[in-house]
Amino acid sequence: MPKFLDMDFKNKDVISINDFSKEELLHILKVARQMEQKPKGNLLKGKILATLFFEPSTRTRLSFTSAMEQLSGEVIGFSNANTTSIQKGESLWDTLKMTEQYADVIVIRHPLEGSARLAAEAASIPVINGGDGSNQHPTQTLLDLYTIQKVKGRLENLHIGFVGDLKYGRTVHSLVIALSHFNPTFYFIAPDELQIPENYLDELFRKKIKYFKTSDLNRFGKEIDILYVTRIQKERFPDPLEYEKFKGVYRIDNEFLQHAKKDMKIMHPLPRIDEIDKSVDSTQHAAYFEQAANGIPVRKALLALVLGKAK
Ligand code: CP
Repeated sequence: MPKFLDMDFKNKDVISINDFSKEELLHILKVARQMEQKPKGNLLKGKILATLFFEPSTRTRLSFTSAMEQLSGEVIGFSNANTTSIQKGESLWDTLKMTEQYADVIVIRHPLEGSARLAAEAASIPVINGGDGSNQHPTQTLLDLYTIQKVKGRLENLHIGFVGDLKYGRTVHSLVIALSHFNPTFYFIAPDELQIPENYLDELFRKKIKYFKTSDLNRFGKEIDILYVTRIQKERFPDPLEYEKFKGVYRIDNEFLQHAKKDMKIMHPLPRIDEIDKSVDSTQHAAYFEQAANGIPVRKALLALVLGKAK
C-alpha cells in the first residue's frame, strides 16, 4: 500500500500506521474535529459497514457501529466467528470475498498478525484494521493522537511514558510509530520480559528519537506529560503461567499521582483490569474515558474519508 501522498483517502485501506505520513495523520485529525463540531447526519446514507470481529471488543466495534449509524449508514457483521461459516472451514480469504458483495467498507479484528493486510488483498472495498494480533491497531492510534492533541493542546515535543505490557500491546506499537513524527521523548516502563520489541527501538534509533527503558514505574514520574497505561495482554501469552508472573505488576493510584506532574494525563486504550485504581477516575489526570469517547469522531472521519464522503 503506497503512502497517501495526494491526501485522497477514497477507497484506501487502513491497515498500518506506517502507511500514513505526518501530514496524513494531521489531516485525519482535522476531519475528526470537523465531525465533532458539525456532525453531518446523512453523510453515509445508503452505505453499509461490515464489522468482522474474530476477537472480543467493546469500544472498537461499538464506536464504529455508532459512528456509522450517527451518519445514517447501516451496519452488518458478527462479533463471534463461531456463528459464521468459518466454523465449517471457510477461509478468511473467501469470507472477505463474500463480505465485499454485501458492504461498502469492512472493519476487521483478528488474532493473527498480518490478517488485516490479507483481508485488504482479498477485498476490493476499503478494509480497516480493528486490531491484528499483537501487531497494530491504527484506528486506536488515531483516537489516541486526537486525545493527546485535545488534552495537551499539541502533539510536538511531549514526554510520553508507556507502562505495562509493551511486548504484546498493539496499541503501544502503533502509537510509538505515529508519535515518532512529533519529536517525542519516550519512557518505556515494563518488566524486561514485556519490554517494547527491539525492532521499534531500532526505528527510534534510526529516527534519532530519545528514549529510556526501565522497570521502575516511579523513576521518571516528574518528567512525563502523558502516561499511557496498558493491560497485561493475558490472551497473547503462549504459557498461562507466564501471565500469572506479571499480572498486577503495576498499579496507578493516588499515591503514585502525588509524585507526578500536576498536568500529567493518564491514558489507557481500555479495557483496564487492575492497573489503574478507580480512585484515579475522578482526578484531573484521568483522560481514558474521554479517550474512548473520541473514537466516535475519529472513526466517523475515517469512514467518511475512505468512502469518499469527506476530503
Ligand atoms: N481499545 C480497544 O480496542 O478496546 P476494545 O478491545 O474493547 O475494542
